Amino acid sequence: MSDSRAAVSMRGVTKRFPGVIANDRVDLELLEGEIHTLLGENGAGKSTLMNVLTGIYLPDEGSISVAGKPVRFNSPKDAIALGIGMVHQHFKLVQSHTVTENIVLGLAGGFQPVRLSEAEGRVAELSERYGVKVDPGAHVWELSIGEQQRVEILKILFRGAKILLLDEPTAVLTPQEADELFVTLRSMREKGHSIVFISHKLDEVMAISDRITVLRGGKNVGTVQTSATSPRALSNLMVGREIQFQTYPRPEMKGESILEVKGVSAEGDRGLPALKDVSFEVASGEILGFAGVAGNGQEELAQVVTGLKAISSGSITVDGRPMAGASAKDFIDAGVSYVPADRHGVATVGDMSLTHNSVLRRYREEKFGQGPLLNLVAASKYADRLIEEFDIKTPGRETAVRTLSGGNLQKVILAREMTTRHRLLVVMSATHGLDVGATEFVRETLNHHREEGAAIVLISEDLEELLSLSDRIAVLFHGEIMGIVDAAQAEIETLGLMMAGERQSEAVA
Ligand SMILES: Nc1ncnc2c1ncn2[C@@H]1O[C@H](COP(=O)(O)OP(=O)(O)OP(=O)(O)O)[C@@H](O)[C@H]1O
Ligand SMILES: [Mg+2]
Repeated sequence: MSDSRAAVSMRGVTKRFPGVIANDRVDLELLEGEIHTLLGENGAGKSTLMNVLTGIYLPDEGSISVAGKPVRFNSPKDAIALGIGMVHQHFKLVQSHTVTENIVLGLAGGFQPVRLSEAEGRVAELSERYGVKVDPGAHVWELSIGEQQRVEILKILFRGAKILLLDEPTAVLTPQEADELFVTLRSMREKGHSIVFISHKLDEVMAISDRITVLRGGKNVGTVQTSATSPRALSNLMVGREIQFQTYPRPEMKGESILEVKGVSAEGDRGLPALKDVSFEVASGEILGFAGVAGNGQEELAQVVTGLKAISSGSITVDGRPMAGASAKDFIDAGVSYVPADRHGVATVGDMSLTHNSVLRRYREEKFGQGPLLNLVAASKYADRLIEEFDIKTPGRETAVRTLSGGNLQKVILAREMTTRHRLLVVMSATHGLDVGATEFVRETLNHHREEGAAIVLISEDLEELLSLSDRIAVLFHGEIMGIVDAAQAEIETLGLMMAGERQSEAVA
């Protein structure tokens, strides 16, 4: 690849924020026709560097060349004009618009309605050419997260991007969707596109990239050929120590049953049945994992056992107490904590400080409340403790959480929910978006809660994670439980078949 030309070359790029050097004299060279991974811990500066490359942030120092020519971007428009487009960690689509409308939205000169059909044709053609499957006429609200991501990709291809920057694209994808994305990325590479790929999952990084650059504390600590490195060497570069995921010994002693769900059905947001006759129990000191492809009722399941969604039939009890008609506050009072998958919208208030976010659902607690007012001293102390324990990278507790890196924001919510006293902890995608060190820490913390006697419902698409932590694993398909298996004896193949809709008896036979 030594004769490949540089599509982009960044030299000595520095970007500072109040109290942080997000990028510290970073050199990065992206070759034509390569897939280049940016790797690094939460807060290492990956997203910032890409935001500099798309003209969202102006660097404080350093220079950028595109195809050998020095450039200076004042806005994302300048970057796209030179063929650089980015898919962000969080999408920016208009839900009520169609796929094509979203794609043409904001294009120079606007788009006359008459030409919409023309645009639709072009979207269909691009979608065919790159193997990015999506219906150009569908409304965004009808699409899964994976499909929405494809719209973002088509949007930048439509604008003629040759250089694509993908910020943790697989964090929100099912394993099957990730595989499809990789087919698309390889086909782009074949057509001469250059791709920067950000991910925390070392196995996929090893599988997809030509080269890998590791950032640590804002600095480039090495660029390597993928063929000449290993996951172990990479985690060493990232964190300066080796990370080894443990398997946790499953305690023999299970306590009394805490959560009992019997024959529960519930409707989804569009009024369709989302859960059908679901029954299970979780005992004190037990982790019940829920596997399944996203969209098979996981979200609704989490909502009904935390009081955020009403059930249409069946019963739920917590510690023997019937929860029919109970509010989310009643569930919190019963000792139920919830870490939702969408930690942006539901779980935090971006403009508020870390301190305020860390007591967000807990103003009512004596420790933090003084009548309607917040006890700032107690809250501040608590926030400092969370920052310390969860290694949250931030200038301080007064920082607005909106400015935290994606993974550090996750840590704030996990920290808040996981330090509450609870009987039942419901966690969706516990470690998604977290770096290897933080992942290890969160797994340890979950295990610790189990040992302390909490009942845990762990919903995830990551089978490896479910297998390493759970005592039993239930599989959801189309809102029904296909079976519940003992994690120690579970086979990935059997779980896979159940995730595709086979009942346990059929899948094992
Ligand atoms: N707009 C901003 N204002 C203030 N600080 C910011 C802003 N954006 C990023 N930072 C800080 O810059 C540092 C790098 O953040 P960045 O988002 O680039 O990390 P990252 O490597 O993408 O992490 P993650 O894996 O968690 O997404 C962090 O300390 C973050 O808090
Ligand atoms: Mg990021």
